[in-house]
Amino acid sequence: MKKAYIETYGCQMNVNDTEVIFAILGEAGYERTEKMEEASLVMANTCSIRDNAEQRIWGRLDVFNQQKKARPGVLVGIVGCMAERLKDKLLDTGKVDLVVGPDAYRSLPRLLNAITPDKPQIDVLLSRDETYADITPVRTDRNGISAFISIMRGCNNVCSYCVVPYTRGAERSRDAHSIVREACDVYARGYKEVTLLGQNVDSYLWKSAGESVNFARLLEMVAAVAPDLRVRFATSHPKDISDEVIRTMAEHPNICRHIHLPVQSGSSRMLEKMRRKYDREWYLERVAKIRSLIPDCGLTTDVIAGFCSETEQDHRETLSLMEEVGFDWAFMFAYSERPGTLAQRNYPDDIPADVKNRRLNEIIELQNRKSLERYRAQIGKAVEVLVEGPSKRDPEQLCGRASNNMMCVFPALDRKIGTYVRVRVKDCTSATLICE
Ligand code: 5AD
Ligand code: SF4
Repeated sequence: MKKAYIETYGCQMNVNDTEVIFAILGEAGYERTEKMEEASLVMANTCSIRDNAEQRIWGRLDVFNQQKKARPGVLVGIVGCMAERLKDKLLDTGKVDLVVGPDAYRSLPRLLNAITPDKPQIDVLLSRDETYADITPVRTDRNGISAFISIMRGCNNVCSYCVVPYTRGAERSRDAHSIVREACDVYARGYKEVTLLGQNVDSYLWKSAGESVNFARLLEMVAAVAPDLRVRFATSHPKDISDEVIRTMAEHPNICRHIHLPVQSGSSRMLEKMRRKYDREWYLERVAKIRSLIPDCGLTTDVIAGFCSETEQDHRETLSLMEEVGFDWAFMFAYSERPGTLAQRNYPDDIPADVKNRRLNEIIELQNRKSLERYRAQIGKAVEVLVEGPSKRDPEQLCGRASNNMMCVFPALDRKIGTYVRVRVKDCTSATLICE
């Protein structure tokens, strides 16, 4: 059998897409390898979200090309968001045999057959209905405990800074029954946690004859697969997360108490310009609702520093919102202008890099302090952890996450991977609970 090697960049959705790609490649006679040197097909599943994500890939392309030179016949492919966005530029390098966008993975076997040294193949058509619902992903996770399931593709929110609607196309929801079947299937194979993935899970809506399933209902259906199967999801959108979803979480102990709720900015003026379709007050009201129905809910977020025309006052509003909410954790970025987006077409990228970075550093510093506070507040509590594997630092210890998504380490004793243990938090860092 021929071997395929794929490096995955970007979001969890890309990780899951790579698993779908391996399933499709399997039919074309390729098996997965983790060693580039033995692969006859070398690919990167790429991300375009920020400029530095793309810059990394140009470097990898040179490395892939060395394989091609050393072992004639090796094929090099670029797939995913960057393939969608930079198709021609990629082909122009003369270093790629294959360029395939996120909705075209089914054509991989056909394209692979058609490649000749002077005829690279490309398919970047976006689709209105492709969800890969019928494809059973080849799981690439190592622990066999936690699986990702895509429930929808694409995105219909045109946030002005974001390239995703252009690289992944319009939003479409996957057949609810195929999602439940996939959850049953991974559970039967020993998995204990599924994470439902979508750009905006709250707008999940699948309809067929006489049946309509929204995200709250889907959560219920997946939670019913087994009481000891944990259900997680990402990403939520503050404008769409409904009381019904929050209540559904509160009612089902196996739906994990964690919501990733990207705020992006604490300034209503910036949020308007970002086209997020909510303001600061709305966001704070959603957080209050979550905390009133699920007091122990973990909350994490994404923040962008230095968006177009952001003033010191706007920036301070981001800091004050973060202070007020007290997120457990945040992904924090300097604004990176993306070609073709509404922001790039309409607003100058006018915050100098040093100002962006200074603001970003202030945001990071504040969040580190808040994370430590949030983790410290857990000391003394008993938490239930799903054992994921050995701790990276100390082989005598195991690690796993609490329902609220905080990482825990604790003495291994005779505990087995994939079981639930109750531990007590005795100490912490700003990213780990140290338990006994
Ligand atoms: N610049 C910086 N960060 C961005 N994100 C999305 N687009 C950009 C951009 N152009 C961030 C947002 C989003 C996360 C996945 O990436 O915070 O929630
Ligand atoms: Fe994922 Fe967005 Fe990056 Fe595409 S651009 S891989 S959707 S994070």
